[in-house]
Parts: sequence; structure tokens; C-alpha cells
Amino acid sequence: MPRKTPWWRSATIYQIYVRSFRDSNGDGVGDLAGICENLDYLQWLGTDALWLSPCMPSPNADFGYDVADYFDVHPELGTLADLDRLIVEAARRDIGIMLDLVPNHTSSAHPWFVDARSGPGSSHRDYYVWSDPGPDGGPPNNWVCATGAPAWTYDAESGQYYLHNFLPSQPDLNWWHEPVHEEFEEILHFWFDRGVAGFRIDVAHGLYKDALLQDNPPVLPTDHPVIRRGKLRPVYSSHRPEVHQIYRRWRQIADGYEQEPALLGETWEFDYQRFGDYYGREVPELHMGFNFGFVEAAFRAPDLAEVVEGTLAGLPPGAMPVWTASNHDVGRFPTRWCGNDARAVKAALTVLSTLPGTLVLYYGDELGMADVAVPEALRLDEMTMNKPDGGRDRCRTPMPWSSDENAGFTSGSARPWLPLGEIGATNVRDEQADPGSVLNFWRQLAALRRDGRIGGVEKLERVLLDDQVWAYRVGEVTTVANLSDQVALRPLPGAGQLSVLASSGASHPGAEALGDVRLDPWQALVLSTRP
Ligand code: GLC
Ligand code: CA
Repeated sequence: MPRKTPWWRSATIYQIYVRSFRDSNGDGVGDLAGICENLDYLQWLGTDALWLSPCMPSPNADFGYDVADYFDVHPELGTLADLDRLIVEAARRDIGIMLDLVPNHTSSAHPWFVDARSGPGSSHRDYYVWSDPGPDGGPPNNWVCATGAPAWTYDAESGQYYLHNFLPSQPDLNWWHEPVHEEFEEILHFWFDRGVAGFRIDVAHGLYKDALLQDNPPVLPTDHPVIRRGKLRPVYSSHRPEVHQIYRRWRQIADGYEQEPALLGETWEFDYQRFGDYYGREVPELHMGFNFGFVEAAFRAPDLAEVVEGTLAGLPPGAMPVWTASNHDVGRFPTRWCGNDARAVKAALTVLSTLPGTLVLYYGDELGMADVAVPEALRLDEMTMNKPDGGRDRCRTPMPWSSDENAGFTSGSARPWLPLGEIGATNVRDEQADPGSVLNFWRQLAALRRDGRIGGVEKLERVLLDDQVWAYRVGEVTTVANLSDQVALRPLPGAGQLSVLASSGASHPGAEALGDVRLDPWQALVLSTRP
């Protein structure tokens, strides 16, 4: 386990999409042993914990987000013994292992659902959400699933519909049914007993549904743009207040373990107060929540400043903010935010690392790895197959370790499960050798985080904000970021006494040069009142 306590405060967590990190046995699919073999790299990067995308047995309709057994490891990825070994080996390097827990739904191949589907009298029927048809014989209400199709599938055998907010092969669990709580509490104990450092909780805002299954209302012009991408506000199909009961119970369980496991929710909530509610107000709930308002913000000074300040104001006192900009759903920030311009990538990493709180990087972020245009014939993600942006496969491609064949991802001759992009200089080996690489810049930031010089949770104060430049102070450190492709010259009060901890640009001013700060396009500076 990591050495700080609790380990997850101001931590650096690294998300690994297991199928794409490193293939140890040459079958073209990344695996747990491949992670284990590269722990020295992950330690060198400065990570406190790894969050592994789902590793449990799954028919892979949604690559592990359709779980068929919560107590085992998917054979393609390894064995339970491999996971145990990974936990032990990672702990030797002060790295914790977090798993991805999927409590909103199971796979339709899970024995609970197989039984539930066998008929209304089956003992697992109420584990899922069933309903008679609507008055017209169609679905019970207007809810739509992640593909935009109706969220209900008809079961001819029983004449009822079952609910799935994602694919039809991912039936939603019924959290109004107490045995479901008991099952998941057993699952938590099982993995905490094995020493996991916590869970990322999938669809954390969605577990409860409205008991009356009321229609979702239409979106409002005032809704967040992400909500407005759909036609309906998902206020009855998810985001129910009852969900907080679950996290109060889970928090107690987690806090009873010596390794202080963290519960990190996938909390899609754009209202700052309601987002903060997931941490718990009177009673503690999740240790942390992913902040999608930040993930979805434009990479512009005013947009980021607004979301960061709003988020911090909405969190309960003492809460640990989480900053992340890439993942396996939304894409990679070097592409989404930075147009694959390494200067902008370094500026983004500077901002992510100097905001007060815990940072979650996605594998490849440290290299400036870009999304890959996966040719249509090779696309695999059923949920986003028809999306014009290339779907989610674009951000799930194999990690480039070198410029060798298959980028050093696989040892064998099998074709990697998703294609690699063009193999250029963006790979671990070449970037390690290049002092000006994104990777070596990340290492400087990581060292400052490790030493507690940045990322601590002192109050954030705005120093300067305009269309181009955002400067903020956290404790003794001031970050000045030029989030534009133009040179910026700004007066920075007291700048003369500041020393430079890190500079993302080509020019590295000394302390004496800093009365007025001159920033190259996309340059970010980390300045301190302490030498
Ligand atoms: C979450 C996951 C996503 C998955 C979905 C259904 O949003 O991040 O990858 O498809 O839940 O489990
Ligand atoms: Ca493999």
C-alpha cells in the first residue's frame, strides 16, 4: 500500500484499461501479468494507486462493464492468483490497486439474471427492475438507454419488460430490494479482504430508480450541455436521492479496513451542490467523486476557472476534490483539449497537477497519447458503434511502449485487439530518452506532488483571469497558465520574489526575471514563495 495515510488524499491515481496496457502472453489482449511486469515503470511515474477497468468474468458486450461473476477474474486477463500477486507486488512499491465495481447492472449472463428471467416466481426476480407494458402495450415509460433506444426490453415468456439503462445485455439491478444491498456488501468485503485499495464505482449516481417509474421530463435550456445532448432529463431513471443511503453503508465498511480503501464514484452530476452531496454532508459517503463538469469543460481559462471555483465551493469542508481529463468513455485530453499539441498537453498536466486534490491520469496521458481513429471495420464498442466521433474505441487502443513492432505492446504475433495508431515518437522508450518530452515534464510535476509541494488542499485563490491566462494560488504555490496559442505578458503582483518550480515552455525564467510574466503560447509556470 502507498505510504501516506489515508493514501488517497492528494494522491495520483493512474487508470489502466487492462486490455490495452501490456499483453504478457502474446494473445493480443493486455492482462494483469502485463501490468505486474511494468510496475517499476508505474512507480517511476509517481503513481499512488492504479484503477483497473473491470477485471471480472464478463461476456464482454461492454468489455467488463457487464459482469457475470463478482468474485473472480476474467480468464482473458488472468486469474485470481495473478490479481493477488499484483496487489502484493504493487504494495512493495507503495502502489495500491483499485478495482472497478459495477453495481448498477449485471450481465444478462449473470446467474441472478438467468434465474430472474426464468419467471416471475423465481427467487432473483426482484433483483432486477421488471414492469408490465405501458397502456399501449409498449415499454412502461419513456426512458432511453445509452444508445438512445428504449431502456426496456420485452420478455415474451413473462409478458413483462426489464430495465437496462445501458445495453439490453446489461439489466439494471433493483436497489429497492434489500438482498441486492447484502450481495454487494459481501462483494466489498471479499475484495477488501484481499487487500484492494478501493473501488471506482461505475454509474454511482444511477443505482436507484424512481419507485413509480415516472416518465423523464424534457431537457431545459438551462441544463448542462451534456444533458442537452439527450432529449430527456434523466431525473427519474437515475440521480435519485435514495442512492445516498448506499454510500453511507459502504463508507462504514470501507473505513473499517486497515488499508483505508477509497470509494471513488463515477458521479455524473453537473450541479455543484448535488455533486458535493455525494461526499456526504452530515454523514460521510463517498471518499471522492469524479467531477464531470471539469472533464466536460472547454480547455479555456475562463471555463476551467469557473468550474474549478464552483466545484470547490460546492464540496463539503475537508472533501478531497478529484481532477481528471481523460478516460475510457470521454476520450483523451491531449486530443480533446489540446489538439495533440505537446505544449498544450504540458500546460494541461500543469493545471491538473497543481489544483488542490487528487489527480487521476488515464494510461498514456503522461505521454500525450492521442485518440486513434479506428477504422470502422475494426470497431468493437457496441454502445457507440454508430457515433460519428469514432466511438469509445478511439481512446482504448494499446499503450505505445516503443517504436518497435506493435509498439512493444504485445510479445506475440497475434494482432492487438484494437489497432495501434501511427507509431511515432509518442512512446515510453523514446520519451524517456528525450529531456523535452511530455513524459519527462510529467515526472517533474509528479516529483513535486510526491514532495507535497503541489496538489495539497489549501484554499485556492484566483490571482488573475482573462480570456488567455489563468493564475491561481494554492498555499505557497502560484500557477500561471497561458491557455492560448498567443504570447501573453501579464503583471503578477509579487512575482519578483517567486522561484520557478516548473515551467512547461522552452524558456525557463529565473526568479529575477519575473516582475512581469511573459508566457510563450501554451506555457504554464509553477512558482513558489519558497525556493
Ligand atoms: C460507465 C462506464 C462505461 C460503461 C457504463 C456502463 O459509464 O464508464 O464504460 O459503458 O458505465 O457500465
Ligand atoms: Ca494477454
